[in-house]
Amino acid sequence: MHKSILILGACGQIGTELTFALRETYGNESVIASDIREGSENLMDSGSFELLDATDYDVLEEVVAYYEIDEVYLMAAMLSATAEKFPERAWNLNMNSLFNVLNLAKDKKIKKIFWPSSIAVFGPNTPKTNTPQNTIMEPSTVYGISKQSGERWCDYYHHKFGVDVRSLRYPGLISWKTQPGGGTTDYAVEIYHKALAEGAYGCFLNEDTKLPMMFMDDAIKATQQLMATEAEKVKVRSSYNLSAMSFSPKEIAQNIKEHIPEFEISYKPDFRQDIADSWPNSIDDSKARQDWGWKPDFDLEKTTKVMLGNLKA
Ligand SMILES: NC(=O)c1ccc[n+]([C@@H]2O[C@H](COP(=O)([O-])OP(=O)(O)OC[C@H]3O[C@@H](n4cnc5c(N)ncnc54)[C@H](O)[C@@H]3O)[C@@H](O)[C@H]2O)c1
Repeated sequence: MHKSILILGACGQIGTELTFALRETYGNESVIASDIREGSENLMDSGSFELLDATDYDVLEEVVAYYEIDEVYLMAAMLSATAEKFPERAWNLNMNSLFNVLNLAKDKKIKKIFWPSSIAVFGPNTPKTNTPQNTIMEPSTVYGISKQSGERWCDYYHHKFGVDVRSLRYPGLISWKTQPGGGTTDYAVEIYHKALAEGAYGCFLNEDTKLPMMFMDDAIKATQQLMATEAEKVKVRSSYNLSAMSFSPKEIAQNIKEHIPEFEISYKPDFRQDIADSWPNSIDDSKARQDWGWKPDFDLEKTTKVMLGNLKA
C-alpha cells in the first residue's frame, strides 16, 4: 500500500538511519526527510529533503499538505546533556514540536505518529533494576521532565481524540553511521572511535555506572515493528519500555580490549554522572515482547564487533 512519510529531525543519530531504513521499505520517493540543517551526503542524495523547523506549525502543515503525508516520525529534540545547559530551549523544542504533530493528527491531517521517549522518564526514586513499565517516575532532568510530559500528552491525545501515536522509551543508542547528539550515553559511541584512533579513552562517567543500551539496528527494527503493528495490539499509548543490554564503562572497555588489547580507559566523571545516576541500570520490556513480539538481536559482544569492524573500514 502506498503511504507518504515525513521524518522531522532526519539528520540526527537516529533520524539518519531511520530515513535509510524507511526508504528501503517504502521507496525513496515515499519518505521525505526534514531537519533545520542538511544531513550527510548519502542522506541528501537518497530522496526528497525539506529544511523545516518542527516547532513552526504553519510550515509543517504546508509540507504535510504538499506531500500528502500519512505518517510523521518526530525525531527532533534536545537531548539530556545539552538540555541541562539550555532548559527553556529544550522544553520549547521538545514540547512544541510534539504538540504540532499531535494537533495535525487530531485535525485528521495525518494518520499516524511515531515519537520517541527515553529511559530518562525515570528518576532517582524509580526501582533501578529491571525497571517495570509502570512505576514511580519523578525524572530529575529537564530532558526527562519533557519526555514524561510528552508521554502523558500522547496518552491523552490517544484516549481523548483517537490519535494513533506510538512510542518507545529508547535506551542509550550505539551507532557508527552518525555521531550522537548530546546525550548522557554518548560515551558508548565515543569510546569505539577513540579506541581505534588513539588506543585510549577518557570516560565522563564512573567505571561502574551501568546503563541500558541498544545497538541502532535494534532500535530501528523496534520502531518499524511497532509502527507496523495493528492498532488494537498497541496497548500502551504513553511509551513502551524497550531493552537489549546493560553494561558499565568498565565492561565495554573490557570488551574492546578483547579486540584491541592495548586499549586504556580512564575515568573523569563530569555533570553527566548526576544524570546517569538518576536513571535505571536495566529495563523490563516484557510488555513490548508480549504486545508486539519485541526481541533484540544485538548484545554487547556483537555490538563491539560491528562497531569496530565498520569504524575501521
Ligand atoms: N540517541 C539516543 O541514544 C536516544 C535515546 C533515547 C531517546 N532518544 C530520542 O530520539 C530522538 C532522536 O534522537 P537523536 O539521538 O537522533 O538526536 P540528535 O540530536 O542526533 O538529532 C536530532 C535532530 O533534530 C534536529 N533538530 C533540532 N531542532 C530542530 C527543529 N526545531 N526542527 C527540526 N529539526 C530539529 C537536529 O538538527 C538533529 O539533526 C529524540 O527525541 C531523542 O530524545 C535518543
